[in-house]
Amino acid sequence: MERIATGIPGLDEMLGGGLFPETAVLVEGAAGTGKTTLGLQFVVNGATRFDEPGIVLTFEEFPRQFYHDAAAFGWDLRQLEQENRLRVIMSSPEVALTDIKNPDGLLAQAVQATGARRILVDSLSHFTLVERDPIALRQLAFTFVNALKRLGLTALLTWERSPLLGGDPNAGEFVTFLADGYIALRYVELDSVMQKAILVLKLRGSSHARDIRQYQIMGDGLHIEAKFEGQQRIMSGYATPSMADAFVAAFGRARD
Ligand SMILES: Nc1ncnc2c1ncn2[C@@H]1O[C@H](COP(=O)(O)OP(=O)(O)OP(=O)(O)O)[C@@H](O)[C@H]1O
Ligand SMILES: [Mg+2]
Repeated sequence: MERIATGIPGLDEMLGGGLFPETAVLVEGAAGTGKTTLGLQFVVNGATRFDEPGIVLTFEEFPRQFYHDAAAFGWDLRQLEQENRLRVIMSSPEVALTDIKNPDGLLAQAVQATGARRILVDSLSHFTLVERDPIALRQLAFTFVNALKRLGLTALLTWERSPLLGGDPNAGEFVTFLADGYIALRYVELDSVMQKAILVLKLRGSSHARDIRQYQIMGDGLHIEAKFEGQQRIMSGYATPSMADAFVAAFGRARD
């Protein structure tokens, strides 16, 4: 079956080859973990390397800053827009929710004009500002995500969580039901250094990596590295040596 490659070094391998077309995958993490960067990289790679134009729907309020931050990674979004390989739509959650129901809406037009196959929605968390009632919120998010799929788009949806370390793993539970996949980004305190961890929690209908890997944000975007060796409780935010490694450290030999 066809896969939509993210082109992010190490991530497609974790995803068993990439995303399935017309699915929606959550990218969840605390502030600054790299959700926007990962999403942009997915869309820009599509436009520049895979001949798959894309759309960025953002609810951030500072256009200049947005383009500027992307340029820091070497991504010239304006250039891609001029080449009709990308559309950046800056909107509000209210407007986007109305627009998506309109077959001639901005989003539908952008898909038609560019032939877009990918979208980054940054962020789904903004919908919680529009609708307080959890059941209505679920419904609204569900309608929105289905509409994206109907437009033929493969979507990455960012979801912000707090606090920075640890916290309730079910905090974003209401969104997990609507996503076909779930990628978690975490800060991990390890040997007095803040590291970053990535985990594919689910990917419907596909095998995927189960281990927790390190990643770095570099000048050209995210790079996934090796898995955390000899550590446990990584997703709690406070990694500790695994029992076996702790034993070696304490007694200078492996346990019998
Ligand atoms: N040019 C760059 N080179 C290396 N790292 C960078 C660069 N630009 C940003 N970063 C890193 O990327 C992080 C921000 O990533 P990003 O904005 O994608 O996070 P986010 O999860 O979307 O955050 P938020 O929740 O605030 O939207 C910064 O904290 C910084 O460490
Ligand atoms: Mg962001």
